[in-house]
Amino acid sequence: MLQDIVGELITLEKLPEQGWTSEVSRIVTKNGTYLIKSAFKEKYRDWLRAEAKVLMSLADGREIPVPAYKGFIEEDETSHLIMSFEKGITLTAALREAMHLSDKERLVRSFGCFIQKLHEQEPVSNREGDWLDTQLNKAQLYAEKGQSEGSLELLEQLKSCNPQVVKQTMIHGDYTTDNVLVIDGEVQMFIDVAGMTVGDPRYDEALAIRKFRHHPELLAAFYKGYTRYRVSQEEIQYFEGLYEFF
Ligand SMILES: Nc1ncnc2c1ncn2[C@@H]1O[C@H](COP(=O)(O)OP(=O)(O)OP(=O)(O)O)[C@@H](O)[C@H]1O
Ligand SMILES: [Mg+2]
Repeated sequence: MLQDIVGELITLEKLPEQGWTSEVSRIVTKNGTYLIKSAFKEKYRDWLRAEAKVLMSLADGREIPVPAYKGFIEEDETSHLIMSFEKGITLTAALREAMHLSDKERLVRSFGCFIQKLHEQEPVSNREGDWLDTQLNKAQLYAEKGQSEGSLELLEQLKSCNPQVVKQTMIHGDYTTDNVLVIDGEVQMFIDVAGMTVGDPRYDEALAIRKFRHHPELLAAFYKGYTRYRVSQEEIQYFEGLYEFF
């Protein structure tokens, strides 16, 4: 039960900024402040379970900044993940509020720097099997069930032209400006970590730059922070194609 995890509720309020696949609320109890993330559809409940696993596995003090895991509750129709409530705002919100280009550049540089650190981190575990194969298989399932934007035709294309192999690293797996928190002007925390695993770092990179790929100043700022690799046009196309399935 929720109260067993967080203690007696004082308030429970939906956040003004909601995600796509879940409902998020802030809970205040006398023990502290928590975030509860609830999912209703099967696909998103699976993702939430995956996120719970990731948070649990990172709770052992490793050097990856994520909210602290508090608990996971599965009911008949709903799943709930409870974690620490972190101060800070999403990078999307921070960029919206930034007054000057120089402020935006600083934020985007920090966004690049932050993911570089993850990509250079020692992998947590040796995943079994190849990340890209796993993603392509999942994509196939979603496409067949009509649960994705990507078509089976696009999927065939992706399967027939795997990109050149690069070293696999820790990845976030959904590295958009919505899924990091800015604290004191710097990107400092990953959220929405269901896809965090050992995988292809070009997926994070391609997703990271998607919104400002045609904005030369912001793109340059990103690559001041992210210096380890630069995706090619073909790689961007490939990984953006893959993203259509998720
Ligand atoms: N631990 C946290 N502390 C404070 N705020 C949080 C925390 N986790 C999430 N949030 C807020 O809730 C919003 C939604 O969270 P999240 O990105 O995890 O869900 P989601 O977008 O529904 O997931 P998905 O991307 O799978 O659809 C975030 O944009 C952020 O504002
Ligand atoms: Mg999100």
